[in-house]
Amino acid sequence: NNLAYKLETFRDDYTFRNSPDAIRRFPFPFDQDHYMYSVNIEPHKPGAPGSVFEHTFDIDEHYVAECADKALTLAQDKGRYAALPHMMDAQWDFLELTMESLARDYPDQFKLSKEGERWTWTNLPLGIEDSFIFGDASTLPMEPLEYMGRQVQGDFVLLDQREGTLFADAGFITSQADWSLAFDIGMAWHEWHGPVPQVEKMGVMERALKFLLSLQQGSPVRRLNWTMTINPRLDTSPEHYPQWGPDKLKVTAENAGRKAHLRVELQGLFRLPRSNAILFSIRCYLMSLEEMATYPRWIKRFHRVIRDLHPDLLEYKGIKVYHAPLMAWLAPHDDGEELPLGT
Ligand code: HEM
Repeated sequence: NNLAYKLETFRDDYTFRNSPDAIRRFPFPFDQDHYMYSVNIEPHKPGAPGSVFEHTFDIDEHYVAECADKALTLAQDKGRYAALPHMMDAQWDFLELTMESLARDYPDQFKLSKEGERWTWTNLPLGIEDSFIFGDASTLPMEPLEYMGRQVQGDFVLLDQREGTLFADAGFITSQADWSLAFDIGMAWHEWHGPVPQVEKMGVMERALKFLLSLQQGSPVRRLNWTMTINPRLDTSPEHYPQWGPDKLKVTAENAGRKAHLRVELQGLFRLPRSNAILFSIRCYLMSLEEMATYPRWIKRFHRVIRDLHPDLLEYKGIKVYHAPLMAWLAPHDDGEELPLGT
């Protein structure tokens, strides 16, 4: 894992780039030439050393820049953090899980020491050191979910389980693929998944919910989801749509390789011990098509997936408006060679 943190931006001049190492470990989500939704859940077990699955929460070369981007987004829009009052136990569960995981998995970067309920947390890359009383929010600079949400890459939702479903009752959301925490807070599983096309008739959501309701502590699971984003932008929120939506109209057959990015979400689901809530973590990985093309197998497969994607998914994922220039850029990269199953 290359932990030389990069100075880069996810907005304005968009200087974000992946090193060759970051491309090599990118969680490419397509193991065949065709894509449709499925209940693609697997145990969140430690993966191969160096892979994004090695640790509970993946910290990579973009860590410092991503945390700076989170702070900018929150400063512009306080509504990206929200927590209903009954979620305070779940917030402490979240703080404990993230601090213990980071201190265990990246001991050179993060340290946690405990004297009874008095904890001291040290975050060397961000220059943070705080002592507090575990369980007493007045001893932290802000609520526990916001405090650690600012210090771990990705977005976080805390789900309360009751009435046979899950409610999105707290969240820290600054890198979402066009959905709104302010809108979804307090909603139930079937309500927030309402806009997703094609899934109801396949029973995907029913089966996934049933699985999650019996998720056990100590046996987290993960899945990949994906979409596309124009420019390497983390904050593709409905709230800031005017800042990024129009970029879709600027894609051409010449610039698509630089502008169009595959956006992959590594999503984790963890049962939490005190609250019995579920943590849903959403870690975003971005890769330009030029970067993807350094792996010919990936770019060929991606061409086929996008070419044959169901029209409802092209629409829902916002790709339809630039599908033509995208195909014009991708097609010459695909010689039609048969590709083996797997990534
Ligand atoms: C969207 C499946 C868990 C929140 C989606 C989509 C799928 C999906 C297929 C459409 C994505 C796309 O085409 O880009 C699943 C499965 C889950 C799961 C199989 C569990 C195993 C969750 C959880 C949350 C969540 C725990 C918690 C908040 C959302 C939201 C959207 C979404 C907010 C966007 C909906 C919109 O367009 O407004 N999900 N999901 N999902 N999911 Fe999930």
